[in-house]
Amino acid sequence: MSTLSHSELKQIAGEYGTPVYVYHAEKITEQYAKLKNAFSRSNARIFYACKALTNINILKHINAIGCNVDCSSINEVHLAIRAGIEPANILYTSNGIAFAEIEDAVAQGVAVNIDSLSNLEKFGRKYGSGYPVGIRLRPNIMAGGHLKISTGHEKSKFGISIEQLDAILSLQKQYDLRINCLHIHTGSEIKDVEVFMKVADIFFELAPHFPHLSYLDMGGGFKVPYKESEQGTDIDLLGEKVGEFLEKINAAYGRDFQTWFEPGKFLVSECGYFVTSVNVLKQSGHTEFAGINTGFNHLIRPMFYEAYHRIENISHPEGAPKHYAVTGNICETDTFAWDRELNEVREGDLLVFYNAGAYGFEMGSNYNSRYKPAQVLVINGQSHLIGRRDAFEDLLRNQVEVL
Ligand code: LLP
Repeated sequence: MSTLSHSELKQIAGEYGTPVYVYHAEKITEQYAKLKNAFSRSNARIFYACKALTNINILKHINAIGCNVDCSSINEVHLAIRAGIEPANILYTSNGIAFAEIEDAVAQGVAVNIDSLSNLEKFGRKYGSGYPVGIRLRPNIMAGGHLKISTGHEKSKFGISIEQLDAILSLQKQYDLRINCLHIHTGSEIKDVEVFMKVADIFFELAPHFPHLSYLDMGGGFKVPYKESEQGTDIDLLGEKVGEFLEKINAAYGRDFQTWFEPGKFLVSECGYFVTSVNVLKQSGHTEFAGINTGFNHLIRPMFYEAYHRIENISHPEGAPKHYAVTGNICETDTFAWDRELNEVREGDLLVFYNAGAYGFEMGSNYNSRYKPAQVLVINGQSHLIGRRDAFEDLLRNQVEVL
């Protein structure tokens, strides 16, 4: 198990200051190996959903370990190419985008999943059978850890509803489209393997309508444990079931399908540590506040999704357990934990948030004109600064002073 020790994290905090995001490359490698092993019978390709963490060094590491990349904007596509990833190993799963982004993606030679009839029609008109294309479907399945991260239900904006199959088929016919991929991503933090198998059933039903179909893309969304007591998605069980499904669908249609997966959290959540310092302790009513030098501008998940991140006081691990509200320094309620047992906290102590690799730094902002934190990568036992902490000029960098 690849983990960074308290003493390594303390040393990094001392060297680079806090707040700081720290990523452990070997943990990403370990998670990727787990997937490759679990899906060894499923003719699977793994595409890292890079929206979770796009630092160019992370993309390069992903490439170095042989993993492909899934992008959710054309800028991510360009970042992936910049990181040296072959266009053939890049997938662009679009949603709600202007057609110009699809044209750009095609010009780069990456695979594209289209999520609206409108863009599919434009695609047909422009490319016809000249470029293969994938379709993102909305299966009307409710799944995921929070409504805000559920994407497959009836009210979701994502994908083309499976009820519109006839319209997809008539575009396929009209423009002689080479639809080579069906994509369904039902949401994030899906523990229940059966959700993926429901998706498989839909693919089984739809496959005969698509003569060029080669890729069955089940999206990402594997749950990772955030609490010590929690279990993530049983990847080995999923791998087994997907393997069985693949045998069944290949035999039924005499084809040789490939399965695609797009994990974000599974690959990078646990590689990340967010190290912060305690600015102030404040006793108020029955609550003891531990006020730390960060806020939801740096880690929005607790306030945005009621997400739980494990926190540890690495400066005083032998301190007597006490209860704290862990809050930030933003001029708005930014509570990371309302009532959390921690080893006694003193001003200046370092508090570490675990599972901070996915959607942590990436969803950060400069709200309250605070600096975005530094980012450090640990690889082969060495730490490297891979993202500088903002400086005052960064706050003004894109502002145009006209007065
Ligand atoms: N594929 C597609 C099409 C997606 O929309 C997503 C995530 C993924 C793959 C990767 O999902 P993952 O394996 O990371 O669960 N910011 C939220 C998560 C939003 C996920 C958006 N789409 C959070 O912090 O929980």
